[in-house]
Amino acid sequence: MSLTKTLSQLFGDAFASQGLDRAFGEVVVSARPDLAQFQCNGAMPAAKQAGRNPRDLAQAVIDAVEDGSPFAELSLAGPGFINITLTDDHLASYVDSLAVEPKLGVTPAAPKQIVVDYGGPNVAKELHVGHLRPAIIGESVKRTLRTLGHDVIGDVHLGDWGIPYGQLIVELEDRYPNLPYFDAQLTDGYPAEPPVSINDLQELYPVAAARAKEDEGLAARARAAVVELHDGRPGYRALWQHMRNVSVEAIKAVYDRLDVEFDLWHGESTINHRLQPMVKRLFEEGHAVESGGALIIEVMSDEDTREIPPFILLKSDGASLYTTWDLATIEDRIEELGAEEIIYIVDVRQGLHFEQVFRAAYKTGIAPSDVVLEHPGNGTVNGPDGKPFKTREGGLLTLRELIDMVVTRAAERLEENALAVEFDDIEKAGIAEKVGLAALKYGDLQNHRSSNYIFDIDRFTSFDGKTGPYLLYGAVRMKSMLREAAERSIRSGQVIAPLQEQERNLMLQLTRLPEVVERAGELRAPNHIAEYAYELVAEFSRFYEACHILRESDGARQASWLRLVEITLAALGLLLDLLTIEVPERM
Ligand code: ARG
Repeated sequence: MSLTKTLSQLFGDAFASQGLDRAFGEVVVSARPDLAQFQCNGAMPAAKQAGRNPRDLAQAVIDAVEDGSPFAELSLAGPGFINITLTDDHLASYVDSLAVEPKLGVTPAAPKQIVVDYGGPNVAKELHVGHLRPAIIGESVKRTLRTLGHDVIGDVHLGDWGIPYGQLIVELEDRYPNLPYFDAQLTDGYPAEPPVSINDLQELYPVAAARAKEDEGLAARARAAVVELHDGRPGYRALWQHMRNVSVEAIKAVYDRLDVEFDLWHGESTINHRLQPMVKRLFEEGHAVESGGALIIEVMSDEDTREIPPFILLKSDGASLYTTWDLATIEDRIEELGAEEIIYIVDVRQGLHFEQVFRAAYKTGIAPSDVVLEHPGNGTVNGPDGKPFKTREGGLLTLRELIDMVVTRAAERLEENALAVEFDDIEKAGIAEKVGLAALKYGDLQNHRSSNYIFDIDRFTSFDGKTGPYLLYGAVRMKSMLREAAERSIRSGQVIAPLQEQERNLMLQLTRLPEVVERAGELRAPNHIAEYAYELVAEFSRFYEACHILRESDGARQASWLRLVEITLAALGLLLDLLTIEVPERM
């Protein structure tokens, strides 16, 4: 259990002994580390509730808690704050216990069934810069919630059922009318090999989209083709399946490179079988009403101070759309996956869409009121001009190009810093890949998920400052120090009471990890982990400067320091994993 949780229990007991709620005993890391290590602020609200004097109550709590306690100092401050400082022995023994805790004190929560919907790419198009944030924030949130003990399913929710497939079908039909997919009489026996490669699709899609934009006749054919696709016309389904397969393969390759891993490769199309019964039921139950030929659900309520347009269930041509699919997907996730929470890591600019979908889901009972539907939106990656990142030519940079760019810069940085110079080319390239990805991911995740940030490749790839490469360098330094100790047969041992400030500070820093991970999970905000990981490495560096581990003559102290390095490395490994960052063995 985390240290603050243990302390909170002790203080909770003390409040309970005063006939008050145990929850008042919550202990947190001190806001004034110069005065104390931890603090408990519960006396003020508790006193208010009980009609007592807060300072007297705080003193009573101190008296109740003090007996045989792990505290070096408990003191009353201001209107009723309790300042807490542990004995060095207690601190050391807590940190020592972390050596056998793979999660470094993170206590499992009551597990919930959670679906994280992130990624959201559209098939037939290459991943681009805009797909970076949802992918890594989503992956990080998924890993964090899992570490906190939840059952988490990551679903990529492919855009695979929209108008673009109609446009592509029509484009292909015009180019290759003799392909069996367009023969309406045929119902099976289509070729096993896809008629198009991913490169073909990438060439075709922009052309098809542009043509449909100019030519209303073509656009109408594309819409009709989509309706037929949805209704199950065999040739269209077969062709669509091929397009989906080749796209998924290409999309997966980029996500793999980013270490972004989905449990489900579902898409908008996955719930097609649910649409008809759902629409029918919502109509019969009176939730959906006709409006201008379309079928809508009113989602605005009297309390609203802004306009919330109605949720569109079916368009006037009878076709389902983005909103319909998201609603049916909620039904599917609740019924098939037992989802208790669904978290959408999707661009903040889709806020209104999710507002409408969530309202429709609750209003129609598709989501019972105890199911949590949440859209913690992500901001954008901007260029130096503060606008969404573009290539020099003004085009959208593909994600693959962006990664290549950062990895190339990382390789230069390694050289500039004389790192990894003596390794063979394969290892060097592997290290550059990891450093580049760390730069990219940390540069992103250090910002709150909802803010926009400027993509600054020089800053992100620097080995100094708050960057991914700095953290990797810290981790690699810990690894190499442990290797050296092993070569010299120096062993780690029990963590003993700190003598130096830097040693104590590192220990205190380690005790904070569980709260940080919890906060990041609750707020769906990996930036808390990013910030803390940086502070941990910075604290480690100060310790490392002050405590010359390999030269230490006191065996017990040396063994304790070494254990501290091991624990710090384990903690950093956990944090970096939550940030989806991989550490090289050496560099
Ligand atoms: N494919 C969508 C887009 O490109 C994003 C999907 C987000 N997820 C969702 N459940 N709607 O805008």
